[in-house]
Amino acid sequence: MKKSLHILRRENAKSSPYWEDFLYETQEENDTVATALRAIAGAAQKEGDRRPVAWESSCLQKRCGACAMVINGKPALACDTFLKEIPGEKITLEPLRKFPVVEDLVVDRSIMMENLKALSVWLNEDAQLHSEEMAFEASVCLQCGLCLEVCPNFAPGGSFGGMAAMNPLAHLIANSPREGRKAVAKSYRRGVFNGCGKSLACRNICPAGIRIEGLLVKSNAAAVWGRWGQIGKGSR
Ligand code: SF4
Ligand code: FES
Repeated sequence: MKKSLHILRRENAKSSPYWEDFLYETQEENDTVATALRAIAGAAQKEGDRRPVAWESSCLQKRCGACAMVINGKPALACDTFLKEIPGEKITLEPLRKFPVVEDLVVDRSIMMENLKALSVWLNEDAQLHSEEMAFEASVCLQCGLCLEVCPNFAPGGSFGGMAAMNPLAHLIANSPREGRKAVAKSYRRGVFNGCGKSLACRNICPAGIRIEGLLVKSNAAAVWGRWGQIGKGSR
């Protein structure tokens, strides 16, 4: 299999972007965009004539969200995009567009953490989650940013938390003791409900498989209309 990677590059945050092509050939049927990027980075380093393409990765198993980028116009994880599933020889790779570019395909997604901090989305040491399943569901988001990339209501630098804030907040709502509910509900209304246009553009993009519709309905019922009894578990 032969693929030509057409990559939008930038030396640093202030320099002008430019396109560069890299050829990748493989006999391996299950190679991903991440495999190809690792190979071309290695080749560039060996030859020493081209600056290695900068991109982020860690787990290579769809678990850390680091390799999120725009692949042939669609936001996706590089380690979860198989070359054999991309028609044609040319593959266009661009950095996520809603976050500031650091270098090549690396972006700064710290705004997502800042937004979570501003909404007080964390559990105290003595928090009692109802079950292990609930604890797992609350932490399942990779913070990859793909949902914000496709969200018409999130502008670069914006304070709307999107689905990335919705998932942990929804589980906080489900687990909040009566006395803490007001604060959680306020955060939810401010960071999610008020900014969400219900476009559901993020519905099918999440690599963690979080189902936004169910969370939205239950969390709105509890935190906006005070129907706390309806909130239950199960986001995926
Ligand atoms: S909700 Fe899904 S798409 Fe959004 S940041 Fe978390 S894992 Fe990524
Ligand atoms: S490298 Fe971790 S999700 Fe792709």
